[in-house]
Amino acid sequence: MTDQPLIDLLKKLTLEEKIGQLLQLAAPFFEGTGTDGQITGPMASMGITEDIVKHTGSVLGLSGAKETIAAQQAHMKKNRLGIPLLVMADIIHGYKTIFPVPLAIGCSWDMEAAERSAEIAAAEASAAGVHVTFSPMVDLVRDPRWGRVMETTGEDAYLNGEFARAFVRGYQGKDLKHDLTRLAACVKHFAAYGAGEGGRDYNTVDMSERQMREYYLPAYQAALDEGAELVMTAFNTVDGIPAAGNKRLMRDLLRQEWGFQGVVISDWGAVKEMIPHGVAADEAEAACKAMLAGVDIEMMTTCYENHLKELVESGEIEEALIDEAVLRILQLKQKLGLFDRPFRGADPDRERDIVMSAEHRQAAREIATKSCVLLKNDSVLPLNREQKVAVIGPFAQNGDILGPWSWLGSKDETVQLIDGLKSKTDASRILTAEGSGIETVTEEQLEEALRTARHADVIVLALGEHSDMSGEAGSRADIRLPQAQLKLTARLKAAGKPMVAVLFNGRPLDLHGIYDVADAVLEAWYPGTEGGAAVADLLYGDRNPSGRLTMSFPFAVGQVPVYYNHFNTGRPQGVPDAQVRYVSQYLDIPNEPLYPFGYGLGYTTFGYSNPAISSGVMTVDQPLTVTVHVTNTGSVAGEEVVQLYVRDLSGEVVRPVKELKDFRKIKLQPGETQEVSFQLTEEQLRYHHADLAFASDAGKFSVFVGANSRDVQELEFRLDK
Ligand code: NOJ
Repeated sequence: MTDQPLIDLLKKLTLEEKIGQLLQLAAPFFEGTGTDGQITGPMASMGITEDIVKHTGSVLGLSGAKETIAAQQAHMKKNRLGIPLLVMADIIHGYKTIFPVPLAIGCSWDMEAAERSAEIAAAEASAAGVHVTFSPMVDLVRDPRWGRVMETTGEDAYLNGEFARAFVRGYQGKDLKHDLTRLAACVKHFAAYGAGEGGRDYNTVDMSERQMREYYLPAYQAALDEGAELVMTAFNTVDGIPAAGNKRLMRDLLRQEWGFQGVVISDWGAVKEMIPHGVAADEAEAACKAMLAGVDIEMMTTCYENHLKELVESGEIEEALIDEAVLRILQLKQKLGLFDRPFRGADPDRERDIVMSAEHRQAAREIATKSCVLLKNDSVLPLNREQKVAVIGPFAQNGDILGPWSWLGSKDETVQLIDGLKSKTDASRILTAEGSGIETVTEEQLEEALRTARHADVIVLALGEHSDMSGEAGSRADIRLPQAQLKLTARLKAAGKPMVAVLFNGRPLDLHGIYDVADAVLEAWYPGTEGGAAVADLLYGDRNPSGRLTMSFPFAVGQVPVYYNHFNTGRPQGVPDAQVRYVSQYLDIPNEPLYPFGYGLGYTTFGYSNPAISSGVMTVDQPLTVTVHVTNTGSVAGEEVVQLYVRDLSGEVVRPVKELKDFRKIKLQPGETQEVSFQLTEEQLRYHHADLAFASDAGKFSVFVGANSRDVQELEFRLDK
């Protein structure tokens, strides 16, 4: 189908109807959604009338096959030309079957796992009538104070790009129009939302364009390359201009330079937020700026609805701009097949059959086992089935392990840690005590916990953050676990039993008081619906932990931002003849993070030997091959993520001390050796120069292979051009 029918349709729309297509409202405004579209209270105070709702182009936060069908039917009857609604929702790490949070999925270094999680999320949500997901969020992050780090895959631009692609493939499949089990993906938050000053949500972002292009933009671009249909603007400023009104960002970069033809949607309220930002005196000015900048859909505020018409009439906005935006929205509706099948995948029977199916739960369990990261293990894990285990702490019997953005996830249908453990051994061997709340503790709780621990052979201490402590608006300045839990940990040490800390949380934490007290630490993140089962699989050694961090764990919050691909400075630590004081360092803590990017343990060990490079010279036509032998030197099979990093030693611009260029996840039997080989090309050495040209520099390079960004072996080569 060409666009002609859509153009004809566009011509039939009045200006008011066109502007209606640009408005997105939340589900309660619509008939058939349980509220039956009764516009009362705060909704009415937004100035939304039934007349406006019937012109509205899209809805957010609506789901359920019956509800979406009813809402669509009612809407199409009321809408003069019967234009179907687009149904959008935050399906971030699962619909009802909840997968680990994206940061945890990142730690799997497993693109198939990421794709599969998105595919299942799409299958469930589309059966429940959703058309578009506000995912993936691919914002690069370096500050664990920011609560939304849980929603991204970490601190590396290359890895984030790979995950962005995998999520988009999983959501969208190959043919959105005919494959009704898929969703259109909306990549967010454009741009650089992850770089808010001080880790405070919604805060100012200011960085050089070079820095932004180098680190922050590649993952959005990767998602678009993979075909993501929508882009959501960020809340923050970019170079002093709020993203939702940032013409350079959206018209010049996104549309013109990258050629993006899909729909741009503002984040919730972000158009109107140009007023408190201080770049618009009123809603009309905000509407004008957002439209000129290229925002097609305004989410949840009514600057467009109330002011675009007058802006067109006064000549400040050309109607052609509105036409373009509407056409893009109609094109998306067409791509999703909504003009032929307005209910699309919504199907109560299919919804009943597949949502939370055994197959989906099994996939969630599998992916959760890949996502946990073993940070420390002084010969305590795996547990053996004969041991008496005291499982203690606020997450021992707690279904709140789904994490933020698990909208329809059900805590009651989530496998708790205690149930996972009991399924592995005779239930009489699993003792339990609450120990503490998440933020509160009493002397009685501590005493009871200690008594319980004394009866056991080993303590499993289930600690973490309440799910409201991360996610949107979940910034924290002190990223240790709450004092109550640190107190519990310290007290239990008196039991003199081996102690395993299992952490359920949404960000890299300052682990003082945990890693130095416990004998083993497993970072389980928020592992999702099957979390307790997956963690038990790992604790008992039925699965060997293989997750590797994609975000550094700081030694202390004062180091933040701390990330592996930093610059060396002119006065690095550790140079032999440097004066001890006058180097770039803290006087009171190390420069290095507690656990670096790429790090994670398992129940076996790996040896790296014979690192080699095919030549000391690379040219544009002559790539190099870097090889290393990896041996499983332990006694059980295990997976290793073999990582390849590069450093440019004579760049025009200073280059990071290491940059991840490639990795392989391999599985080795005990005693088995594999030669892992990477091709390294000139293209992989390119970066943004001072004039923003994307090119490589001739000269000297280091290449590193190893198990993480710290533990590597180094080789050298030269690029001749
Ligand atoms: C605000 C969040 O920033 C965004 O990520 C989300 O998709 C929207 N709200 C819609 O819920």
